[in-house]
Amino acid sequence: MGAFENIIKQLTFTFFVLFYYCSSSYCVFHEDPLPDCLEEDPGYDTSAYPVYYGAILERESESKFDSENFGYEPEFFTTERYDRVGSPEASLKVVSVDDFGAKGDGTDDTQAFAEAWKEACSSAPGILEVPQGNTYLVKPISFSGPCKSAMTVKISGTIEAPSDRDLWIKNGSRHWLLFSHVNNLSVEGGGTINGNGEIWWENSCKIDKSKPCISGPTALTFESCENLIVQELRIKDSQQMHLTFQKCVNVMASNLMVQAPEHSPNTDGIHVTGSKNVVIQNSTIGTGDDCISIVSGSQNIKAVDINCGPGHGISIGSLGAGNSEAHVSAITVDRANLHGTTNGLRIKTWQGGSGNAKNIIFQNVAMHNVSNPIIIDQNYCDSKKPCPEQASAVQISNVIYRNVKGTSATKLAMKFNCSRSYPCERILVQDINLLMESSEPATSYCRNVHGITNGKIIPPACL
Ligand SMILES: *[C@@H]1O[C@H](CO)[C@@H](O)[C@H](O)[C@H]1NC(C)=O
Ligand SMILES: *[C@@H]1O[C@H](CO)[C@@H](O)[C@H](O)[C@H]1NC(C)=O
Ligand SMILES: *[C@@H]1O[C@H](CO)[C@@H](O)[C@H](O)[C@H]1NC(C)=O
Ligand SMILES: *[C@@H]1O[C@H](CO)[C@@H](O)[C@H](O)[C@H]1NC(C)=O
Ligand SMILES: *[C@@H]1O[C@H](CO)[C@@H](O)[C@H](O)[C@H]1NC(C)=O
Repeated sequence: MGAFENIIKQLTFTFFVLFYYCSSSYCVFHEDPLPDCLEEDPGYDTSAYPVYYGAILERESESKFDSENFGYEPEFFTTERYDRVGSPEASLKVVSVDDFGAKGDGTDDTQAFAEAWKEACSSAPGILEVPQGNTYLVKPISFSGPCKSAMTVKISGTIEAPSDRDLWIKNGSRHWLLFSHVNNLSVEGGGTINGNGEIWWENSCKIDKSKPCISGPTALTFESCENLIVQELRIKDSQQMHLTFQKCVNVMASNLMVQAPEHSPNTDGIHVTGSKNVVIQNSTIGTGDDCISIVSGSQNIKAVDINCGPGHGISIGSLGAGNSEAHVSAITVDRANLHGTTNGLRIKTWQGGSGNAKNIIFQNVAMHNVSNPIIIDQNYCDSKKPCPEQASAVQISNVIYRNVKGTSATKLAMKFNCSRSYPCERILVQDINLLMESSEPATSYCRNVHGITNGKIIPPACL
């Protein structure tokens, strides 16, 4: 029927593409590839935004695994594209929360923050300052735009959440600090955002099964923001997720430190949902859940130079919960170190979902005692009840794992457990070297997955 010839043709073509990739990638691997690689200048302007790369990313290609539908590189535009606050020609309005009566002594400063925001947001380029040395107690608050012009929020001190859960539970709010509909916003300053989440963790149904399951707020949320910089901040001990980008476009998140204890439930580090052109760079994340989670509606997301652990690793998904439709594409994870996480590079989808997750690259990753270093799980089920078997699934295709080395805490280092009705397609595994932490050999597992390997693969891939 020619199907076999087609496969051969496709494979030959793919090898050609691989050759193209290998020769154009900026890392040359020797015995110990990652350090070499980490020292290479990636050629990105770190103070720049990515720009929307356009339709080519979304182009469907049924049989080709080629550089056109896969070989995207996000482009970057500089912050000069808009009058960033602080540029010399701009007349600046500097507003400190202290000017509005914030005390920073543990009394409620919410009102002062709200008034200071209002003032700064309605001024021509505004800076809102949260001064160093103080700890400001702030209740759930919304910093809404649109603002008159570009805004900088300079957090040099500490903002701390109240521990009274009723502030959220009573009205069902899921946010603590929420920035919404603000364009050309920069949040920075070297300060700390402390979610004070212990009380939420203790009362979580994941910790105490007798407790009702109540969702906690996300510490810092950006919703519908365009041209956003979030940098040089420490975000810790969130009630639930730490930092979420929701429906945002053009985001540069860098030099962030996100920390919560390993036992804190659902405390994802950085969560990206429904957003486009997001770069997460040079950040250290260790929490009780995913370091980075990228879910439906996200496109052109790049995570570079990430230190992750403890936690659940770097995750695409979960996708397709409650029979939902999910679309995720053009995701790159490049240069990451994972330490002692319960998963490494994971794609997780629920049964019964639809849509697709495609054009995903994981490369130059060092694993240190990671359980499930490489995993695709299309039978994800994070619920008290078992999940029934369903035919429908989120289609996973065009996924590259390249140059992944280090140690696995479990024997099964590479697991592709895909749907029977929607097998994983065009999975490419190249230059893998994973041993068990105990130095024993690891294994791989394949179920309903189609793909190829290139280079040296340890443990041998079952593709
Ligand atoms: C944001 O920057 C863009 C690009 O320079 C500009 O067109 C837009 O007016 C700016 N908006 C605000 C609110 O500053
Ligand atoms: C919930 O209550 C907090 C303060 O108690 C308030 O700031 C917030 O706007 C409320 N949220 C909603 C969705 O009503
Ligand atoms: C990366 O982040 C760390 C910690 O925030 C910072 O000290 C360092 O300067 C950053 N590196 C770059 C290249 O920005
Ligand atoms: C590796 O991880 C396992 C499971 O998380 C843990 O029990 C073990 O102590 C770790 N080993 C080392 C050397 O860190
Ligand atoms: C793969 O998924 C199937 C269906 O959920 C499950 O029964 C099986 O145990 C999984 N295999 C592995 C190795 O996890």
